Order: sequence, then C-alpha cells, then structure tokens
Amino acid sequence: MQPYKPGMQPSEVQKKFNLDRIVKLASNENPYGYSKRVTEELKTMATDFEMYPDGYASELRNKIASTLNVSEEQLVFGAGSDEIITFICRAFLSEGTNTVMAAPTFPQYRQHALIEGAELKEVPTVQGHHDLKGMLEAIDNQTKIVWLCMPDNPTGTVIPEKDFHMFMEHCPKDVIVVLDEAYQEFMNTKNQYDLKQNLSAYENLIVLRTFSKIYGLAGFRAGYGISSEQIATKLNIVRGPFNMSIPTQRVALAAFDDEQFVKETKEKNANVRFEFESFLQKIGWTYYPSVTNFLLVNTPIDADEAAAFLLKNGFIVRSGNLLGYPQTLRITIGLKDDMQQLQQVILKLKDSIQDGVIG
Ligand SMILES: Cc1ncc(COP(=O)(O)O)c(C=O)c1O
Repeated sequence: MQPYKPGMQPSEVQKKFNLDRIVKLASNENPYGYSKRVTEELKTMATDFEMYPDGYASELRNKIASTLNVSEEQLVFGAGSDEIITFICRAFLSEGTNTVMAAPTFPQYRQHALIEGAELKEVPTVQGHHDLKGMLEAIDNQTKIVWLCMPDNPTGTVIPEKDFHMFMEHCPKDVIVVLDEAYQEFMNTKNQYDLKQNLSAYENLIVLRTFSKIYGLAGFRAGYGISSEQIATKLNIVRGPFNMSIPTQRVALAAFDDEQFVKETKEKNANVRFEFESFLQKIGWTYYPSVTNFLLVNTPIDADEAAAFLLKNGFIVRSGNLLGYPQTLRITIGLKDDMQQLQQVILKLKDSIQDGVIG
C-alpha cells in the first residue's frame, strides 16, 4: 500500500515553471468558490474555539434531516465523505471478510478495505461503467460491503436508477451497499435518485454526500452518510466524538441553506462542460459521457506526457495513469475563461504531437 499521492500544489508549479498564473483542474473542486453566506458566517467566527465542538452537530443535523425528510438518527457526519468511508470499513470489514467494488473507481474504498485486512473483489468497469451483473456475481457469504460510485469518479458516468433497483433487489439484504453520491448535485434533477424512497425500500443502503464539491467547501472537510438508524448507530460508534470542528459545522450549515448558489454552480458547470465537450468533438478527441464537474478525456499520447505539457502551460490536471485509465486525463471543469485558455493549450499540444509523441 502507498500513502495518497497528491497532485502538485499551484504555488509549487508556479515557482517551478516561472508562470504568472496557474489553474488547478485536478481535484474536482468548485471554481466558483462557495456561498456568500459562508463568507458572512466566517466573519462572525472569532470566539469559542477553546471549547470542543458539538459532537452531535445538532444544528447541521437538524437542518439536513428536515430538508431530506429523514430522522436525525439516520445521519453520520465526518471530515469529508472520506472519513465516512473509513467508518464504514472499520465498522463492517475485518480479516476473513471481503468487499466488492468496481475497478477502477474512487480509490479510498480499496485503501480502507485493505487497512482493515479485508479481501478485495474488484470487478472491471465496462467502458467506464460499473458492471452491476458482474458485481452481483462476485458477492459471496463473506461479502460485507458493495461500493457503487454514482456518478463515478474518474469517469463521471451514471448508473441508471432502474439498474440500481435491479442491483438492490438481487443483492443479499445482509450486505451493505454504499452509494457514493459525491457529485449527485451536478446531475439533472430528473436523473437524481429518490433518496427517501430508496432508504425506505433498502435497509442495507448507505448514501454518501459531501460539502467538498458543489458546495465548494473542500478545505473545511465536511461530509455525511444517510442510512437506516441501525447502520448509522454502528457508524457513530466508530466515529470520534468531536470529529467535525466548530467552524466546519457552521460553514456547512450556511452553505446547505443557499440553494441558489448550488443551482447557479450547477448551471454554469453544465454550460462550460458542454462548451468544452463541443471543442473536444471538433478536434476529434473522445471522452467519457460525464454528468459531473469533470471529464475523463482520451489522449492520443501517454497521459503523463500530456499532463506534463499542460502543467508547463499553467494547467494542473490529473493523469489517468494514476487513476487506472491510461491514456486519459481527468480535467475538472473550471471557469469559462480558463477553459477557453485550456482549449488553446490543448490545440498547441495537438499540433506538437508527431507519431504518438510530443515533437
Ligand atoms: C467519488 C468521491 N467520493 C468521495 C470523495 C471524498 O470527498 P470528501 O472527503 O472531500 O468529502 C471524493 C473526492 O474527490 C470523490 O470523488
């Protein structure tokens, strides 16, 4: 196993290549920042830090539970949904158990399953989509958790809701199914799953949500899980009592309230993504059909080389070599102007390719 290898920080790149400006399009953050309500909330936050936070995150819990129409006891909060993934693995996996997931997909499922000593049953994706039938077939008596990343990272593809129901109906009821919805808010509302209905229908379901993506609060580390009360209780046993800081609880509450910011981000992202997709089509580069704020783009040369070229020209993107999709780049959809500049750099890259390498 290896520690997580983060991409280069913008300041490092700027210094190394002596550039005026760097645009980071590598971690699917929100280029529009966060709600103004968060800015206002931050201004009021100069006191009380000598006290522990509310370990129940009462206000945030109450707000989210009432908005989602679930009970407060169905929620668990974490330092990002990453932390909820660790709780789930700690609560349900150990040596002698196994867990089923797509491969490649978001790597933290694998990482924390291995830390708990569980066996991995990785089912190859088919053209960037989860192979749900293959995943069902991989389940055996020792399987404790199945992971569904929807929309998937790094491809951005979806599992149609009818396929999800087919999966849930065939999955044994004593196997936990984790539905990671980190990018759910970017989807067309009509394609989003019905959370309340699914939680009522499937007692073995855990849904993961995050404040890091559309809410633009990645730096604060806030995420939550929604499940049956019975499962949430198990996750809350594993959770440290004060795992969500006072500032994080407050900004998450402010951000969650601002539906307009979420709506605007979603619209702007969809428009800019559409524009970028049209550009790629024009130059004959293909990509996976994404409903998120990133695109996995096929490159005509080695992905590391392509990523290095973009880096030297001021754009940090993620090489697919690190994500299990060689010869691709995962590019976060940034601001309109930045994406237009990126188009120019991609054209420059395209022009400099000769016989499959940069000339
Ligand atoms: C699919 C998916 N799940 C979970 C996470 C973790 O997000 P966070 O821990 O910031 O909530 C990410 C972050 O990139 C992700 O892409």
